[in-house]
Amino acid sequence: MAIREIVKLGDEVLRTKAKEVTKFDESLGVLIDDMFDTMFKADGVGLAAPQVGILRRICVVCVDGVTKYELVNPEILKFGGIQRGAEGCLSCPGRSGIVARPKKMTVKAQDRTGESKLYKVDGFTAVAFSHEIDHLDGVLFVDKIEREDE
Ligand code: NI
Repeated sequence: MAIREIVKLGDEVLRTKAKEVTKFDESLGVLIDDMFDTMFKADGVGLAAPQVGILRRICVVCVDGVTKYELVNPEILKFGGIQRGAEGCLSCPGRSGIVARPKKMTVKAQDRTGESKLYKVDGFTAVAFSHEIDHLDGVLFVDKIEREDE
């Protein structure tokens, strides 16, 4: 268990497409635990591996402080509807604004053991899934902001 340093806007790693995870070993579990610790310490609700400098397709989400999602090689199978809400990002301190996201999403992802799981999420969890999965392709919420807070 360790807190990792969060990479900030301007670092090229945040703009690079992350690679698929192919090795489900102990170090993957350590990384996922570290990502949760780092996210909770920073009062975030989601974190993607590129934000800790690792270009692999991994993200963690926990919007209610209870339900912890670990998404390895996530794939969006379906999405629908639109919701707009205020967002921020641990890699973009001091910036926030309104972003449009899918209202509902069905996502397939592996866990740390490589087991495939299906998640049907909506509301703020869908926002967090969408935001974190974007990070894996080098997309940041500031690219999608419709109205930025001053
Ligand atoms: Ni973010």
